[in-house]
Amino acid sequence: MKELGRLLRYALPYWWALVAACLMMAAVGAAHGMTALLVGQVFGRALKPDAPDTPVDLFTIPFTHKTVFLEQLTPGWISNVWTMIAYMILVTFFVQGVCDYLGNVLINYAGLSSVTNLRQRVFDKVLQHGAQFYETHSTGRLMSSIMLDIEKIQVASSSMLADFLRQAFTTIFLLAVIIERDWKLAVVSLAVFPFVLLPTARLGKRVRRTTRRAQDDAAEMNQILQESLSGQQVVKSFGAEGYESGRFRQAARRFLRSSLRYTAQQAVASPLIQFFGAVTIVVLLGYARDQIKAGAMDLKGFTSFMTALLMLFEPVKRLTGIYTIFQQALGASQKVFEYMTQEEDIQSKPGAKRLERFERSIVFDDVSFRYPGSPDGFLLHSINLEVKAGEIVALVGPSGAGKTTLVNLAPRFQDVTAGRVLVDGVDVRDWELASLRDKIGIVAQDTFLFNDSAANNIRYGKRDATAEMVRQAARDALAEEFIQALPEGYDTPIGERGVKLSGGQRQRIAIARALLKNAPILILDEATSHLDTESELLVQSALGNLMAGRTVIVIAHRLSTVRRADKIVVVDQGGISEVGTHEELVSGGGIYQRLHTLQFLDPDEAVNG
Ligand SMILES: Nc1ncnc2c1ncn2[C@@H]1O[C@H](COP(=O)(O)OP(=O)(O)O)[C@@H](O)[C@H]1O
Ligand SMILES: [Mg+2]
Repeated sequence: MKELGRLLRYALPYWWALVAACLMMAAVGAAHGMTALLVGQVFGRALKPDAPDTPVDLFTIPFTHKTVFLEQLTPGWISNVWTMIAYMILVTFFVQGVCDYLGNVLINYAGLSSVTNLRQRVFDKVLQHGAQFYETHSTGRLMSSIMLDIEKIQVASSSMLADFLRQAFTTIFLLAVIIERDWKLAVVSLAVFPFVLLPTARLGKRVRRTTRRAQDDAAEMNQILQESLSGQQVVKSFGAEGYESGRFRQAARRFLRSSLRYTAQQAVASPLIQFFGAVTIVVLLGYARDQIKAGAMDLKGFTSFMTALLMLFEPVKRLTGIYTIFQQALGASQKVFEYMTQEEDIQSKPGAKRLERFERSIVFDDVSFRYPGSPDGFLLHSINLEVKAGEIVALVGPSGAGKTTLVNLAPRFQDVTAGRVLVDGVDVRDWELASLRDKIGIVAQDTFLFNDSAANNIRYGKRDATAEMVRQAARDALAEEFIQALPEGYDTPIGERGVKLSGGQRQRIAIARALLKNAPILILDEATSHLDTESELLVQSALGNLMAGRTVIVIAHRLSTVRRADKIVVVDQGGISEVGTHEELVSGGGIYQRLHTLQFLDPDEAVNG
């Protein structure tokens, strides 16, 4: 029920639409009640030529015992009973139609708007989450949740909510009619309803659980879909189409089973109600026959009663159906709110200071780090390192040594387990996060580009950059030449993740993007690994110009490119094993010397990565 409260909070801004819709739907319900009364009049008066020409009593208001006559509701110029009834029938249905339309539109407006807000909130919240969140929630599943689960909520809170109000008010007014007609008979015939409602309520809980499972199965399908599509080249090159197809089939089967299960649970309500309905009708007809024969009841009253009772089954049936849909929506919202309530693992402290300018240094002060998801896994330990402003520091070392992990601590993609990372003497956790990240430009090891034009991908670094600034950045990253050769130059869409480009081209766009950001700190994580030696040297020399006045941490796998670094740091097995300049390390007898010798023998062979 906690979920319901949270959902309602999103509906709060639209309370006026909901209130208006409630009024409209109440009118619809009243119209149904009126219909039942009028049907009674049709049989009791209009179709009975020998009926006395007395005023037509429609119903008695309870407690006051005042009777409302049809004459009071119709214009004075109608005197014929049949015309009056016909007039009322038309008016009733007209009012019902108009109110139903307005109520429906209003509810859908409120429901769709609040769900749109909810979806936006979920999206924003999910974007805020750190690396740890994404390690435990796969893309496919998140997408499924944000779209499918919220769609369930959307259906429930728009068209289903409208139907709920319509049916609930109809139920209320029809109940009022049958109680007003003959309350004793009403009590007897309503005695069957608990038999119907109790099992449905029990069912609702179960439906909620099965729905959750069905949604999870759908999410899994979605995940397989997403993976096989984005990894389609790998699938093809390993001839794994059959394997993926099997995986998908299995997930689809599970989805089928859970969907069928909840359909079966849901579908049982309607026949149940109909059966009890039939029993009630048979009993009532027998009773009524005796009563009318004995003169204790008139045909008109009984017809209204019967009509109202028969009309009542439909809304009750619908209400139980809607109830299960509401249950499903609640089941779905559980997941959605789970994402919302989860604390963001990495965020600014309240009142954290903004880092306005980077001036002095980045210091790793006795830093240890372990990935939260793997407590027994890789450990970065006792890292002590100072990168002064304006310095170029190179990290080298074998693949898996922890270089990427180490640099990711500075922009707080992860937080240290022990020790501190200081930027300008202040723990990074005490800087306002956005301002900290604003000072760091990154070219990551895996370049991610968006399915947009080349220019817009570069502009991602600074969204208000002019075309000339974009060009300059591309020129500095040696990307201009190949971009201009693309079919539409800078406006060429480069495909999802940049599939239309080569690895080296992607990297140069990523470098241009980082250069455009023009941050004082630049982290290049194997940013040139996909370039051939010559281009790499060119890019490095271009970067060399740009590095002037900047603080750069460069991870490189070709030692030739790190020679000019002010300081070379050798990372090995999660620790720092050597620090020095090229000249100091090359004859130091350590890992660096070994790597250097290997690369000297075969300079094009990448030893590490
Ligand atoms: N998200 C993660 N969760 C757990 N372990 C990880 C994660 N990312 C990397 N690792 C582990 O951390 C180690 C260092 O990785 P990384 O820093 O990428 O190395 P390098 O960049 O030096 O090649 C590897 O052994 C890898 O298995
Ligand atoms: Mg790495």
